[in-house]
This record gives sequence, C-alpha cells and structure tokens, in this order.
Amino acid sequence: MCGIVAYIGNNQACPIVIKGLQRLEYRGYDSAGLALLQNNQLNIFKTKGKVSDLEQFISTKNTESTIGMGHTRWATHGVPNDVNAHPHYSGSKNIAIIHNGIIENYAVLKEELIKSGHSFMSDTDTEVLVHLIEEVQKNDQCSLEKAIQEALNEVTGAYAIVVMDKNDPDTLYAARKGSPLVLGIGKDEFFLASDATPIVEYTKNVVYIGEEEMVVVNRNNGFTLKTIQNVEKTPYIHELELKLEMLEKGGYEHFMLKEIYEQPRSIKDSMRGRLNAIDNTIKMAGVKEFEHKIINANRILIVACGTSWHAGLVAEYLFEDLARIPVEVEYASEFRYRNPVINENDVLIAISQSGETADTLAAIKLAKEKGATIFGICNVVGSSIPRETHAGSYTHAGPEIGVASTKAFTAQVVVLTMIAIYIAFKKGKITESRYHQLIIELDKIPDKVKHVLETTNEQVKQISDIYKDAHNFLYLGRGYNFPVALEGALKLKEISYIHAEGYPAAEMKHGPIALIDENMPVVVVATNQSAYEKIVSNIQEVVARKGRVIAIVTKADDTIKSLAEHVIEIPETEEPFSPLLSVVPLQLLSYYIAVALGKNVDQPRNLAKSVTVE
Ligand code: F6R
Repeated sequence: MCGIVAYIGNNQACPIVIKGLQRLEYRGYDSAGLALLQNNQLNIFKTKGKVSDLEQFISTKNTESTIGMGHTRWATHGVPNDVNAHPHYSGSKNIAIIHNGIIENYAVLKEELIKSGHSFMSDTDTEVLVHLIEEVQKNDQCSLEKAIQEALNEVTGAYAIVVMDKNDPDTLYAARKGSPLVLGIGKDEFFLASDATPIVEYTKNVVYIGEEEMVVVNRNNGFTLKTIQNVEKTPYIHELELKLEMLEKGGYEHFMLKEIYEQPRSIKDSMRGRLNAIDNTIKMAGVKEFEHKIINANRILIVACGTSWHAGLVAEYLFEDLARIPVEVEYASEFRYRNPVINENDVLIAISQSGETADTLAAIKLAKEKGATIFGICNVVGSSIPRETHAGSYTHAGPEIGVASTKAFTAQVVVLTMIAIYIAFKKGKITESRYHQLIIELDKIPDKVKHVLETTNEQVKQISDIYKDAHNFLYLGRGYNFPVALEGALKLKEISYIHAEGYPAAEMKHGPIALIDENMPVVVVATNQSAYEKIVSNIQEVVARKGRVIAIVTKADDTIKSLAEHVIEIPETEEPFSPLLSVVPLQLLSYYIAVALGKNVDQPRNLAKSVTVE
C-alpha cells in the first residue's frame, strides 16, 4: 500500500515524480503529496484525492527543483485528508519523509516524543518516524544518515522511506524493510520508487534494495548501499526487462479490460520456454532443482490471499488429482497466526501477484523457520516474496495495473498446472501418453482463451446490462470450477460493490438456497465434465425457485440451454484446464457491470494492488 517516488539529477524533479506517482497509483489513491527543495526551503504540497488532484493543486505553484519526492497514499493510520497525506515534516521542518509501510510501535514512540516536547500535526505513524529521526540527530549530534539508521533500529514494522534534508540539496536517503524499494541509476541522475514502473522510462539499470538496507544517493558522488547497521554492501545492478508500452492502456478504456484481453498473450508468456508441445516436454528451471522435494513431499501447503488464494484452490485439485500429493490451501493471514504443524517434509507454495503481500510473506517466514521447502509463484520480478523462497517460478504475465486481478490469476493457474503435470509424470502418477496429451491440450489454451474473448464479449455485455441493478449475485461451481465461482464473486464485489457469494454448487442446499427468488441472478459454471449431471440438478433447483440462471457451458450443451435464462458457451478442454477458460466470461461480467454502474474499475474504493500491511 502507498507508492513512493523520488528524483535527484539535472532535470526537473516535479514532472518525473508526478508521472511516477501516476504509475504507482494502483498502490493507493486516497491522497498524494510532493516535497521539493527550492532555494534552501523544503516545501511540501499535498492534498486529499488522487494524483490528478495533486497535479491540479500544484498547477499554479512554482515547482522548480532538481530534487524531490512524492507519495500516493492508502490510509492505514489516520483518515485520508490533506494533513495525513505524505510527505511529513519533522518538528523543525528541516527534514521531510515519505513512507510506505506501518510503524507498529508508533504509539509508544509518539508518547515519548511528546514528553520530550514534540507536537504532531497528523494522526500518522510516519510523522512519528521523522520526529524520531530528528530527535536522535539532536540528542546524538550525529549525521542525518546515522540518525536515520538509529531511528530505524528503534522501530518495529515495515517501511520503505525516502528522507530529504533542507540543509543538503544534493542528497536523498532511503531505506527499506518489508516494503519494496528500487533505485534507478541514470546518467547523472537517480530515481527511487516502490517498483520499477516510474523508472523504466529513464533507465533500465536498477538496484533492488534489500531487507534492512539503506541507500544514500548523492548528486555528485553517486550512491552507497549499506545495511541499517551501517555495514557496506556491494550493489547488484539488474537490467530491467519491463517495457514502457506495458504500462499504458494501449487504446483500451481501462487497464482491467486491457489485461483481460492480454490473457492469450500472457498465458503464452507464462508457458514460454517451459511448455514445449513439439518435443512434448515441460521444463521449469525453478522446479528442477527442488523437484525431489516436491515429489517426495508429505504434503504441499499453499498460502496466498484473495485471487491468488483462488489460484491455490485450483492447484489443490491439480496436485491431488494428477500428482496424488495431499494439498492444504490456506489464507496466509490465518496460517501465520494459528501455530500450524509444519515440518521438513512439507513443501510450501506461496502465490502472489505483487510478491509483497504482508501476510503471505509472514507465512513464508514461519514455514521456513520450521524447515519446510518454500516455493514461490510471483509476477513482480525482484519483489520481496521471491527473495524469501528457496525456489520459484515467475508467472511472466507482465505488469498488472488494474486493481482487480485478471491475467495474474490465469498466469498463476497455468504455472501451477505445468508444475502439477510435470510432477505427476516424474512421480509416475500419469503415463507418458497422458503426459503428452495434457501438454498438447495445454498448448492450445491461449487460442481457446482468445476464442472465448471473441465469442462471449458482446453477449456478456448485454447480460451485464440486464443484471447491473441486482443487489446480490450467487456464483456456483463444482470441482475445478468451484474456485472459479469464488473468483467470479470476488471480481464482482471488488469493482461493482455488489454483494456476491461463491459456493460449491452442492452446498447451495445447505443454506444459500433460501436466498433464491426471482431477483437473484445465479451464475453457474457448468462445463460438460465429471460432475455434469449433478450441476444440471443444481441448476434445476435454482430454476424451480425462480432464480435467474446465467450458465457458463461447454459448446453444444442443449440440456442446460433448455433450463438457463442465459447460456455462455466456451470451448471444450481437459477438465483440469477448464478454469482457464471459464473464468474469462466472469471477468468480463464483473467488468461490464462495473462500467454500466459508472464505477472506477481500475481503482475501486478502499482497495490497493499491493497489500503490504496485515
Ligand atoms: C483481487 C485481488 C486481491 C489480491 C490479493 C493478493 O482481484 O487483486 O484479492 O489477489 O490482495 O495479492 P497478491 O497476489 O499480490 O499477493
């Protein structure tokens, strides 16, 4: 949550910082601010609202400066307003800070600082940190760098911070623990940001700042990397693969629609170099090294949150069905606090688009301490989760900017599917011919997704118009498509604010059936597979109570056509791959309903893309 950007160099900082904040707005968008060093003054401009409101706010102001930093906020401590927006000043206004994360012991620190004479303008934990830095500097008569280190050693929680000093127009100080921070190295200029998206336009050379590391960037002397315990580190300079066009809407009205439509390509990218339908093999470098651990695992534990948890549920079906390995899927937030039984023979798979989700990170750390092998499935290269794992596979879906996850989900499912097929074969649980058959069909999925997009888009749009004013939706699915029902309901809730519940279809009679009447749209994923007859019966039960059925079916399904009010057809595929097709019309349905209701599709209220707080 929250995005931070800073610049120092020979160019104007303000436009670079504002553009960077726009790229990071997916991380939070309730208030935004900017600090600039101008004629020996440290000036802060901030306002409630989006980055566009900040842009408007500064449009009549002098923003000349070649050093500056900005912040887009997702409120944790203190309501979203002008005062709580970042940057925050120290008491003397000589120091300013931007911060992404949470200072957990801020209340105790604040009390002590108040006793020492500090007074605070905002309700934020961040303001406490900048006052603490100033207090340490005053008491110890030390450099700002030393004071930042000491203050950071006193705080608990998570942070990515950038600090500016009124008396030093040539230096930016930054540090991180638990929240991401990237340094961009340009020609005579430097960038700091929560991810590489604000940087890629100016340089491909970046350093991912590590846990409890600090970087001091000087206009004339370059940068030094050290730990917050002051131990010097050798930086590793990565070359970014990210391309600028990946960060733009490319003619689509919303990032979410663009990302839904990118799926044939993003799924292919997830398979590239791994699935080879010519020589009929799956090769995954990340899996190879630890395959014996997975093959011999007592069980696989999967931890994730939200949509990634739904991908984990699909994986439970895949690994148990194909590879016959017991799987437990758990919300990372529950797992980390319930004293779970874990041992060295367990493999824990953590799934995360952002690679930054605080609960998932904490679950990984816990399982690692207890000796489990940790495997990560993440989308954002260089993010925190891949650094904490023993091995892993990136999903290579490309940047996902719409807050509601779409292409990241299908990429996660594809990667998990390839791993499950590979392990199943290596473990001798599927024959060579079945292995080849699955590979050949999986290779066809990108084209089938393309077909779903081409053939269902208009129909889904019309259905959206009919049901946009419903107050509740029920989503039903069985087997591999039960997680898809959950995912469809989550998408609708997130962006249209309509209450929706996902259920295993057979569970409906144990409660939710009481909700069904002529006002209840019921979306049923009813592809022609193992529990087909059962799901037809479930549809009949809904129809008998006048529920309005929108069914996702396999092509040429006359039985369901005669029962359901709307039938959306998708192509036939192997049952384990059906979530990759059936989820697509549900993504479109939520998208078009939200658009019809005039909601902010890409930045739904109260949400942020990267949940770095628990
Ligand atoms: C839903 C959504 C969230 C995320 C969840 C986990 O559309 O985006 O539910 O899936 O916050 O995030 P990651 O995958 O980044 O760990």
